[in-house]
Amino acid sequence: MHSEVERITEMAQAGERMIERLRRQAFLPESRKGLTVRFGIAEAASLLGCSTNRIRMAEEDGRLPPPPPTENGRRPGYSIEDLLVMREVLGASPARSPLDTPALIAVQNFKGGVGKSTVTTHLAHYFAVQGYRVLVVDCDSQATTTTLFGFNPHFNITREQTLYPYLSIDPTQTDLLYAVQKTPWPNVDLIPSNLELFDVEYELAASGADGGSVLASRFRKLKQGLQDLARNYDVVILDPPPALGTISLAVMQAANALIVPLAATTPDFCSTVQFLSMMDQVTGQLAQAGISVDYDFVRLICSKFDANDPSHAMVRQIMEQTFGPALLPVPILESAEISHAALRMMSVYELEKPIGTPKTHKRCRSNLDEALGQIEALVRRGWGIATPASEREVINAA
Ligand SMILES: Nc1ncnc2c1ncn2[C@@H]1O[C@H](COP(=O)(O)OP(=O)(O)O)[C@@H](O)[C@H]1O
Ligand SMILES: [Mg+2]
Repeated sequence: MHSEVERITEMAQAGERMIERLRRQAFLPESRKGLTVRFGIAEAASLLGCSTNRIRMAEEDGRLPPPPPTENGRRPGYSIEDLLVMREVLGASPARSPLDTPALIAVQNFKGGVGKSTVTTHLAHYFAVQGYRVLVVDCDSQATTTTLFGFNPHFNITREQTLYPYLSIDPTQTDLLYAVQKTPWPNVDLIPSNLELFDVEYELAASGADGGSVLASRFRKLKQGLQDLARNYDVVILDPPPALGTISLAVMQAANALIVPLAATTPDFCSTVQFLSMMDQVTGQLAQAGISVDYDFVRLICSKFDANDPSHAMVRQIMEQTFGPALLPVPILESAEISHAALRMMSVYELEKPIGTPKTHKRCRSNLDEALGQIEALVRRGWGIATPASEREVINAA
């Protein structure tokens, strides 16, 4: 006879085995998945903001390596590495100047399922395609973002590889360098997470009378650690847990920008209003305790908008009325491409070819570029740069 509680154990174990199977199917023989996306010359030129001729000329005069060979009659394609070299050689890197503050963006909401991890991962890969240096920090013990980067949090990640040794009540690390891992993307690094990161919450809750001061010191520590790391990046993206706890508070005050994803549904609208009220209270309390929270920008983004659902349009209208310009005008559309890519533990930016029809894929990709480009524009505005590198800048620099 099985008790119902034993059933939970069985389901957890069967679930872990299934995740591992899915992961093995999704990835190349080595345990990390490879990055196989390629860009045609026209796409490369448009990403760099130059003409295709400019690339061809540099390939001919030897400043750039020769174009990748044609395989099986398919058009040659440039890898992300190739694009990075191209940007370097043609002076088309979008990187901030050393004096500009790196963006530390928290993708936060206290509701689960609103698309935090989806936005985090796609935003990271969007920035990477554009040529920025990106660090993603998975601060959620549910570790969806870690999974989307091709790691199985249960099998591939130990507690010592997460933020835990740095934030624990008995810390064994004094800076965050130990936690930075390479990903299949040459210009995206990841601090992964797993279930054991939740121990931080237990420990600090159990720390008793001097809990307040321990908390404050953890806040400062996370901010300091992330700021130190951020020197090597243009953008740091933080995926905090969907609840008001030590880690989410620490992330809230470590960030210098806030993106709040929500779906265009009444429950998401209501819980987002709750989230904003809580933020309001908490930032007030933190200020009284001498901990300042300051953001370069705060924006809401509709994270899975279904244009064919009249209720979405209605709720979106309510959101526009309520939040005004704080709501980013272009929503992320709900797309089977995104959910199917997630099943393969990938972002849409990692798909070598469409999962659905080419039309669905193209629409999803161009919507993501436009929606996430709004956030890129806010980051660049913070650096005093209004637009991406133009052709003239590229030519002058070369
Ligand atoms: N734009 C979208 N289109 C389709 N599915 C989406 C979209 N955004 C998120 N999802 C799906 O919604 C679910 C929850 O998203 P997730 O990013 O894990 O939320 P959170 O991190 O806030 O809990 C996932 O299954 C994800 O694939
Ligand atoms: Mg998540």
